[in-house]
Amino acid sequence: MSAEIKQKIIDLTHSLRQHNYNYYVLAQPTISDREFDQLLKDLEALEMAYPQYKQENSPTSVVGGEVTKDFNTIAHDTPMLSLSNTYSKEELIDFDNRVRKAIGDDFKYTCELKFDGFAIGIKYINGKLTRALTRGDGVQGDDVTTNVKTIRSIPHQLVGDFPEEVEVRGEIFMHRKAFERMNSERIAAGEKPFANPRNSAAGTIKMQEQSEVAKRPLDAYLYHVIGDENRFRSHHESLVEAKSWGLPVSDEMRLAGNIDEVWDYISSWDEKRKNLSYDIDGIVVKVNNFNLQHDLGFTAKSPRWAIAYKFETERAETILNSISYQVGRTGAVTPVANLEPVLLLGTTVKRASLHNADIISQLDVRIGDSVYVEKGGEIIPKIVGVNLDLRQPDAQPVSLIHKCPECGSVLERKVGEAAHYCPNDVGCPPQIKGRIEHFISRKAMDIDSLGEGKIDMLYEAGLLSNAADLYTLTFDQLNGLKKSITNEETGETREVSLREKSAQKILDGVEASKTISFDRVLYALGIRFVGSTVAKKLASAFSTMNSLMDATLESLIAVDEIGEKIAQSVVTYFGDESNQNIINQLQEAGLQMEQQAPQAKASSILEGKKIVVSGVFTNFSRNELKKEIENHGGQNVGSISAKTSFILAGENMGPAKLQKAEKLGVPIVSEEEFIQMING
Ligand code: IVH
Repeated sequence: MSAEIKQKIIDLTHSLRQHNYNYYVLAQPTISDREFDQLLKDLEALEMAYPQYKQENSPTSVVGGEVTKDFNTIAHDTPMLSLSNTYSKEELIDFDNRVRKAIGDDFKYTCELKFDGFAIGIKYINGKLTRALTRGDGVQGDDVTTNVKTIRSIPHQLVGDFPEEVEVRGEIFMHRKAFERMNSERIAAGEKPFANPRNSAAGTIKMQEQSEVAKRPLDAYLYHVIGDENRFRSHHESLVEAKSWGLPVSDEMRLAGNIDEVWDYISSWDEKRKNLSYDIDGIVVKVNNFNLQHDLGFTAKSPRWAIAYKFETERAETILNSISYQVGRTGAVTPVANLEPVLLLGTTVKRASLHNADIISQLDVRIGDSVYVEKGGEIIPKIVGVNLDLRQPDAQPVSLIHKCPECGSVLERKVGEAAHYCPNDVGCPPQIKGRIEHFISRKAMDIDSLGEGKIDMLYEAGLLSNAADLYTLTFDQLNGLKKSITNEETGETREVSLREKSAQKILDGVEASKTISFDRVLYALGIRFVGSTVAKKLASAFSTMNSLMDATLESLIAVDEIGEKIAQSVVTYFGDESNQNIINQLQEAGLQMEQQAPQAKASSILEGKKIVVSGVFTNFSRNELKKEIENHGGQNVGSISAKTSFILAGENMGPAKLQKAEKLGVPIVSEEEFIQMING
């Protein structure tokens, strides 16, 4: 028994050392922070119960990391420690109890964001940046001064009333956008992409070529000032001062009077963090007063006066059954993972995005693997890693397809892009249907009587091959149209047919779309890189479809915020004969091909109101209602939420909507009441 325990302690020690090395030195972790923390806790518990087996320099008592060979190694003036961390409110309260037991109740906490990057200590002598060291093993670190000097937000010279000698510590990180851009460039150059912004920041700061580092946009926030002991009374004060010397200190730092206020700060950031341009992985809570910090002191690796509360990542583990390929409207082919269903944040996940071939090979994911699935900001969950411990010995690497799964064309890869494309844009069914679906979508022509299913039906019946065909549809073609639908799960097939009422609704919706403004028509065309904002810019710069079609690359680039990539895409689109034909047909059908002069608002009676429109109306079409709402300062929104001001309900409002409105207490306004409202 005791031999087994000893072996377990040795194994855990080795495995944690390896993970530390992967994380700090290679910047290529193979397990999540949470899993690492769990292993560390397991080891701590075993060491506590069996101290006789504790290994020398156990990862539980040394800070992770090691120095790399390529830089000069220099000892830190004061050891660079880490923080103890927790994922639970209970443990946070335990921390607060421990602190209060030691120093009483009369103190404040500072709450700060926990930046997910790479720790750095920067020394300024007489205000001049003289040295920057990585954490290394906590006692000595790598001298990366020249690389740190390329970071724009870090001053080479302090200003104001700075101390003669001071060290500031903080975190170097990369903004998500910059990370994505850098990764696409790496992929295009045939290099391996980084898994996340933190790894890319760490990888960058350890590069030997300073000129290369300068090309990668790093940023930093500093959160610890070490210097003249008597200069400041508190941590908060020291950071406010550091900011006045020109150092980057986050504006999001707050003082909290007690642990409840700390919890409020934590809860608010668990949500708000998604809107930041960079990653944070938690909140750091520190006793503010320096004397009290001193009283509390340190353990071997971390201060007793601080704790990191880490946010849960929304992650599950399940089996990858197979990979299928989806073709989008632009022809981009996306590998999709078919998973053993798993519950993730309240929904069952069966599919996850695998993005592209580079990500598949970077993850080295294989069929039958046990994979980690996360829900990030996106709606579709993604695979972020593989549990290699559970890999079957015969698992084979994924062999990617070379032909379009829908039309058989040989796939192509564009320079600078990670995705593979099906080049058959005129003949590949999902591309054709995808473009029509985009055309009718809410932000485009908003023909809500059509949807994916009906477009499929019309396409299969040979009635639609492009968006312009919508305007040639007749009642007789639509009425009674049949389609068989197969239930994916049961394999059962049933036939559905389009009834009179639906047929008429489709025609009404198509007709109503003729009043949709020019900028939305332009957006609806689905030109690559022309989103709704760009479409608005182009519509107001060129006023008419004809002049936009004649625009040169130069005149497009001259428009504010239109770069070469967009301009080139517009020129290519309008240069294509089949696109020109579609536009001619749309023009003949009577769509808006000119920018209307902006109308003065009728009133601001609906200012700030978010209004959901539902049902059928006597005096207005849906689009007319939308215009009325906007004309009176309101906003027409799609779905009911607690923020909805009211529902404008016509005849036959759906029972689900009614139920939701009642549940959320959203008022319902009839067509008559609405008319009275806008007539003052
Ligand atoms: S204070 C002795 N504050 O998270 C005090 N650390 O998991 C040490 N980090 O080692 C650090 N944001 O690399 C502190 N606002 C913040 C931080 C922060 C990120 C990093 C830092 C630290 C690690 C602990």
